[in-house]
Amino acid sequence: MVFLLSALTITTLFLCAAAQNVTILKQTLSAKGVTAVYQGDANYSTVSRAYNRRFTFSPVAVAFPTTVSQVSAAVAAGTAQNYEVVARSGGHSYIANCLGGNNGALVVDLSQLKAVTVRPSNNTALIETGNRLGDVALALNANGRALPHGTSPYVGIGGHSAYGGFGFTSRAWGLTLDTVTSATVVLANGTIASASAIVNPDLYWAIRGASPSFGIVTSIEVQTFPAPPSVTVFSYNWNDLSISAASTTITAFQTFAASNIPPEFGAELIFGQGSSSGKLSVQLLGGYYGAANLFSGVIAPYLNAAGMPKPSSQVVTPGSYINSVTYFAEGQSLNTSTASDGSDNFYTKSLMTPSGSPMSAAAVTAFVTYMANQGFSSTTEWFVEVELYGGSNSAINAVPLNSTAFGKRDTLFTIQFYASAPSGATTYPATGFTFLDGMVSSILNNSPANWNYGAYLNYIDDMLANATTLYYGSQYARLVALKATLDPSDTFRLPVGVA
Ligand SMILES: Cc1cc2nc3c(=O)[nH]c(=O)nc-3n(C[C@H](O)[C@H](O)[C@H](O)COP(=O)(O)OP(=O)(O)OC[C@H]3O[C@@H](n4cnc5c(N)ncnc54)[C@H](O)[C@@H]3O)c2cc1C
Ligand SMILES: *[C@@H]1O[C@H](CO)[C@@H](O)[C@H](O)[C@H]1NC(C)=O
Ligand SMILES: *[C@@H]1O[C@H](CO)[C@@H](O)[C@H](O)[C@H]1NC(C)=O
Ligand SMILES: *[C@@H]1O[C@H](CO)[C@@H](O)[C@H](O)[C@H]1NC(C)=O
Ligand SMILES: *[C@@H]1O[C@H](CO)[C@@H](O)[C@H](O)[C@H]1NC(C)=O
Ligand SMILES: *[C@@H]1O[C@H](CO)[C@@H](O)[C@H](O)[C@H]1NC(C)=O
Ligand SMILES: *[C@@H]1O[C@H](CO)[C@@H](O)[C@H](O)[C@H]1NC(C)=O
Ligand SMILES: *[C@@H]1O[C@H](CO)[C@@H](O)[C@H](O)[C@H]1NC(C)=O
Repeated sequence: MVFLLSALTITTLFLCAAAQNVTILKQTLSAKGVTAVYQGDANYSTVSRAYNRRFTFSPVAVAFPTTVSQVSAAVAAGTAQNYEVVARSGGHSYIANCLGGNNGALVVDLSQLKAVTVRPSNNTALIETGNRLGDVALALNANGRALPHGTSPYVGIGGHSAYGGFGFTSRAWGLTLDTVTSATVVLANGTIASASAIVNPDLYWAIRGASPSFGIVTSIEVQTFPAPPSVTVFSYNWNDLSISAASTTITAFQTFAASNIPPEFGAELIFGQGSSSGKLSVQLLGGYYGAANLFSGVIAPYLNAAGMPKPSSQVVTPGSYINSVTYFAEGQSLNTSTASDGSDNFYTKSLMTPSGSPMSAAAVTAFVTYMANQGFSSTTEWFVEVELYGGSNSAINAVPLNSTAFGKRDTLFTIQFYASAPSGATTYPATGFTFLDGMVSSILNNSPANWNYGAYLNYIDDMLANATTLYYGSQYARLVALKATLDPSDTFRLPVGVA
């Protein structure tokens, strides 16, 4: 009885403290003119919904600052009361880290910060982090400029440039984060800091690979590239390949990548379910950013490699740069203000293969066999992308490892494993996890014990063993040291972050 009473008292005290904290938060944000939606408000369920429906989190509030000083006020208010604070740019985090990845976080939604300014004098652009990739591509293209980035128009530039940013121009131009020349960052104590090679160089280093753990980047200045005068988009499709033929599409891709391929060639292999067990559909999708008449000579050694099957169909279309961006958007509008994005219920993993130690024939065969057999019986809707980061002449790997916090500069392939719940399912099936885990193991179990592989933070997975090593690699010790000075109270304490 005594015990019950005191437990009740403690619970009551705790709830009172929490309620008082929310009251103080409301007062503080409202005094600074920051609009926010709280639990119980009409819009709360809409503004706290995750892109990945596998996750539901209840933030204490979602704030919508309209200026950098309002971002600062929101972060300071969160830190003062020991709330976890997170930024939300496009909201596409695979594990809903933009909602905190936990309950009770203060979400700072950046969607009101949408300026893009192109400066012809030095070919930089100043991009506020509430922008999405499609809108950035349109704004730059209107000035004849472009940036390396992924294919989905709705992905936010904030998260994308925080952890990487791979697209088919990346072998020529690097990752999105490699183009960042300076940034404005709100630190945990509310300080609005500049970060560049000259000002706060440690912060500049940390935000290019790990910014979510260090602050809220409100804008990035990027070095842009001339939009290429011609881009050839290509898609080669193979229906119902045998395990042997599908294995050849990977082993030949590895051999081709090591030959003297030009940086203007960007591509990925995409695998999907075949029409019977033991079969796979395979697609080679990509862009060639050089002169159109040279493309057939570039791709020929791959298509004609020993054992390569003949494509069932193909699309090879030269056009403008912005048409290539539209093509890869697969029907979504580049202008994201006119329609809203969908959502999905899914589990994702990734694996970055080291350039110096490509996948063995045994690993490729085991992986393809798994996709062809277990992939046929799986009830999930799945795909696998084998993205070409490296190979000869890759700008991604030309960046010195320690010049940014990005952990992997020796990658040949980044493989994304993606499985969605069957359509109509309300919860994610347990077999979806074991299916993808087994797929990754099929490669690892047939690779050297000391294989120096990694994983990609933009395909973030909160169930990854050894996540720290696989994501941050040798950068982690320096990141931890910087975290202690830049965010001593661990305001930005999201899952899979720097702790
Ligand atoms: C449909 C789809 C297609 C994709 N295609 C590609 C692709 O082609 N290439 C590729 O590389 N990746 C791709 N991705 C992965 C994508 O890059 C990541 O999901 C990315 O982190 C999403 O960024 P966001 O701003 O939309 O997400 P958010 O969820 O808003 O942010 C992701 C993380 O970054 C943090 N963050 C966001 N903004 C800031 C900021 N301003 N300052 C500090 N931290 C911030 C958030 O707190 C969160 O932890 C794709 C994802 C999806 C869903
Ligand atoms: C809340 O919803 C109303 C009505 O749909 C809308 O006008 C308003 O802009 C929304 N506010 C926020 C912060 O989303
Ligand atoms: C509420 O505020 C107190 C200090 O006033 C702090 O110790 C506590 O961590 C806060 N609770 C939450 C949930 O943030
Ligand atoms: C580019 O020019 C703008 C203004 O024209 C200036 O503010 C910025 O500092 C310059 N950036 C670099 C990297 O030179
Ligand atoms: C998107 O469309 C809206 C409405 O037509 C327009 O105001 C905006 O400028 C467009 N954005 C871009 C980046 O082109
Ligand atoms: C990167 O820096 C680490 C120390 O943090 C050092 O051990 C390593 O040798 C450096 N690597 C390269 C490639 O410069
Ligand atoms: C984690 O990494 C350590 C070395 O860094 C290794 O000994 C261990 O086997 C790894 N564990 C898993 C599950 O990969
Ligand atoms: C805020 O934090 C930064 C980074 O640790 C520090 O340099 C600065 O002095 C702090 N500002 C205040 C007002 O405490």
